[in-house]
Amino acid sequence: MRYPTGFVRGVLAVGVLAGAAATLGARAEPQAPKILIDSVAGHDSFDLYCSPCHGRTGQGDGPVALALKSRPADLTRLTELGGGTFPAEGVRAFVTGVGRPIAAHGTSEMPVWGPFFRYFESDIRVRERVANIVTYIESLQREPAVSTDQGARLFKTYCASCHGANGRGAGPASEQFRKIPPDLTKYTARNGGVFPSERVRRIVDGTGVAAHGDRDMPVWGDAFQGGREGLTADGARARIDLIVRFLEAIQERAAH
Ligand code: HEC
Ligand code: HEC
Repeated sequence: MRYPTGFVRGVLAVGVLAGAAATLGARAEPQAPKILIDSVAGHDSFDLYCSPCHGRTGQGDGPVALALKSRPADLTRLTELGGGTFPAEGVRAFVTGVGRPIAAHGTSEMPVWGPFFRYFESDIRVRERVANIVTYIESLQREPAVSTDQGARLFKTYCASCHGANGRGAGPASEQFRKIPPDLTKYTARNGGVFPSERVRRIVDGTGVAAHGDRDMPVWGDAFQGGREGLTADGARARIDLIVRFLEAIQERAAH
């Protein structure tokens, strides 16, 4: 009898997880690991199948995480990284393994759950179980700090070192550049009293800029998506929008 790859991976994962949880959780009773629970409630499935790696609160700090090469994703930041919208369909697809090239390459340590659950229960129940898990993960999302000065804080973090806290240039790091960071408070005055938000957005994003790479100003559209930040394209756009709105708010009033 041949088992689907996803099934084998799933069973191995649950076995390993149950074993690890028993070893690591001092008070865990030694007992045969239960592979499929009757409850299809989202938090029950999450506790058994996901929390060993992703942690009880979903932050990627479960007991098994230490044994993995790649860090389990922090599942509480998906809304934030997606620019304010919970990517329900993406999560569902990732969890069930649809559209993940993983079964083929075997590079991910995250089990493919679709085939695993389908081995034990009907398609209808699998769909219900997975939908409940996805809803549960949505309920774990951290509230993105909603505040009118979000843009101000982003500007302080990413821009003030060169452009100054008030956007007028001459931040502490500005000395070392070929071009002095320009005063960012003059757009409205120079544009006949109207803030050219689309033009500013493109400058900050980097899409409005010729590609010779001789500018001192980082390309923020890329920077927010790379490295430690790791935002999605939507997340980067949302962040840049907040910054641009802040810039609009600090414009010097046009002289009448
Ligand atoms: C054996 C450890 C392990 C278990 C168990 C596990 N995951 Fe993961 N998961 C990972 C790792 C590691 C990643 C990081 C990406 C990768 O390696 O593919 C990840 C990534 C994810 C992502 C992608 C997040 C993103 O950045 O888009 C989602 C969603 C996810 N897991 C949900 C779940 C759910 C739901 C369950 C339970 C049904 C679960 N995981 C069980 C290890 C695990
Ligand atoms: C490392 C220093 C540095 C940082 C950090 C920086 N900038 Fe700049 N910025 C510059 C310099 C230098 C220029 C001048 C033009 C050039 O080199 O591209 C500039 C130009 C600009 C311009 C175009 C001004 C004009 O009309 O000519 C805008 C808008 C701008 N920056 C916004 C931002 C925003 C918003 C951030 C934060 C997300 C930021 N900058 C962070 C150095 C920086």
